[in-house]
Amino acid sequence: MKKTSFAFFGATPSFEKPLPVGQLYFPSWERYSAAFEGIFKRQFYTNNGPLLDELEEKLQGFLEVKHAICVSNATFGLMMVADAMGLSGKVILPAFTFVASAHSLSWSGLEPVFCDVNLDTHQMDINQVAALIDEDVSAIMGVNLWGGACNPKALSELASSKGVQLYFDSAHAFGCTVDAVPVGNFGRAEVFSFHATKILNATEGGCISTNDDDLAARLRSIRPTYGKESPVTIARVANARMSEAQAAIALMSLEDFPANQKNNANLYRLYEEQLETIPGLKLIRPTGVSFSNSQYLVCQVNEREFGLSRDLLIDILKAENVIARRYFYPGLHRTIPYDSALPQYLDRLPNTDSLCTACIQLPIGALVLAEDIECICDILRRAQECAAMFRPRHEK
Ligand SMILES: Cc1ncc(COP(=O)(O)O)c(C=O)c1O
Repeated sequence: MKKTSFAFFGATPSFEKPLPVGQLYFPSWERYSAAFEGIFKRQFYTNNGPLLDELEEKLQGFLEVKHAICVSNATFGLMMVADAMGLSGKVILPAFTFVASAHSLSWSGLEPVFCDVNLDTHQMDINQVAALIDEDVSAIMGVNLWGGACNPKALSELASSKGVQLYFDSAHAFGCTVDAVPVGNFGRAEVFSFHATKILNATEGGCISTNDDDLAARLRSIRPTYGKESPVTIARVANARMSEAQAAIALMSLEDFPANQKNNANLYRLYEEQLETIPGLKLIRPTGVSFSNSQYLVCQVNEREFGLSRDLLIDILKAENVIARRYFYPGLHRTIPYDSALPQYLDRLPNTDSLCTACIQLPIGALVLAEDIECICDILRRAQECAAMFRPRHEK
């Protein structure tokens, strides 16, 4: 194979436009404009409008929870939950997650306690969580990764046996179930992201689900607006409202969820078939769920077996306009401010460190067609065949 067959060396990229990793499922222009015409006619743009009410009711039905409280984004949702639950001291969470999981704690003056994750599932290591609980820990934040779950039942048992609170960052797990129970029903509360890159999309947005009436009342009062319920006394309010424009898009996205999940599951199967034939690329299947939203396509690159490092592979794909991502990198224990404020974690999380250099996210979602997957896997195969061509001269 010639160097000139790769965009990395100057050939024409395989894709005309960048193919992103995110979901980007949007309604047709006709449905969008009809929904927005309604908003303009009603002249009700925000502050608990009729679309937000409808969305929250529908989410409650979909998630089978008592309360779905929509917010401006999941980051704010996590901050509100930490505040409303009255957490203090330290909260255990994995370092292998998005920065917002930990920073939501900083906003409430809470200190993260980082646990490692399981190398095969990427979910938090429950034995380590158990070992990390001490008198300063007030809660565990379970993080359900990659359309999978971090064993919420075992975490619930652990949390109640140790007398600490439990809640979940479920930004990746909307529409998933654990033994037929929808994610959203575990711990005191769960937080979903409705960012455009997620399978349920409000452009920006999120939702807190809880079966706890008192917590729901506090969250609604922190958000505000209160809606149908009466406000309760809380120490401080925020503004994490979801507008009617966001609610309109989320409603259409909720209606489309079964079709979008099915599309993702089909794309996932195509990747599965193709990746099986590429040594050194291990597909990480969502674990711990009876049903997954198939929102992420995550692989681990074994550099020795594949022949190229994860980062070089990302550059090769990028040149072809395939925007693969090294999600998550670096581990949170190696980011500001934790690297210097909490240096004790730097040598304690070997699995997180190893995954941060090996994981790659490939595109899946609305913009990806079946033939794109063939093309992406063909690039991967060809890159592997020609690995020596890409490596810096001294490495060959
Ligand atoms: C695990 C996790 N938690 C929280 C968030 C934050 O979500 P949002 O962008 O809605 O604030 C993300 C975003 O991707 C995430 O991946």
